[in-house]
Amino acid sequence: MDLHVETDADLWEVEALMDLCFAPGRTALSSYRLREGVPPARDLCLVARGRGGEVAGAVRQWPVLVGTARAMLLGPVAVHPTRQGEGLGAFLIQSSLDAADRAGVERVMLVGDLPYYRRFGFGVLPGVTMPPPTNPDRVLGVWDWVGVAGPVTRALP
Ligand SMILES: CC(C)(COP(=O)(O)OP(=O)(O)OC[C@H]1O[C@@H](n2cnc3c(N)ncnc32)[C@H](O)[C@@H]1OP(=O)(O)O)[C@@H](O)C(=O)NCCC(=O)NCCS
Repeated sequence: MDLHVETDADLWEVEALMDLCFAPGRTALSSYRLREGVPPARDLCLVARGRGGEVAGAVRQWPVLVGTARAMLLGPVAVHPTRQGEGLGAFLIQSSLDAADRAGVERVMLVGDLPYYRRFGFGVLPGVTMPPPTNPDRVLGVWDWVGVAGPVTRALP
């Protein structure tokens, strides 16, 4: 498995993987509104390719603001259905978190299932509100969230 930082050459294959792994209409999700007009954190967006060069999984991170504090929004993360359950998702997420740590990122959040993400240290962020409709129990964060709360908004460049 080859893991590398996403480049422009990966874009359409990664988009195709996301389309395969998520329900139609994924771009209508509120998390996508936070990404509009904001470049991703390129060094934290990773692509895993198998031996044949096929895209097996990918993860992205985007800068956001929570109140006035900077944070990263992790996601989407997707693993090809034929490769799920082999630890690739965990490898991608942990590698992306490690890259964020090395880059000096203080806090990462995401919208997802706590039973899956708690293994990476994520917990529910009670004071952080995503644009509706988002189930507050799915708003999760890791690292330094002390004193950080408020609405999640776009981090326009
Ligand atoms: C979620 C996803 C990225 C995980 O990738 P993966 O490579 O299958 O994950 P891993 O192999 O690292 O971990 C698999 C384990 O996580 C569990 N798991 C996967 N999704 C889960 C979820 N939503 N809630 C709880 N557990 C989950 C699996 O049951 C499995 O458990 P086990 O280790 O006890 O067998 C992948 O299943 C996927 O692409 N799903 C569709 C897109 C998606 O839902 N993305 C996440 C959006 S929040």
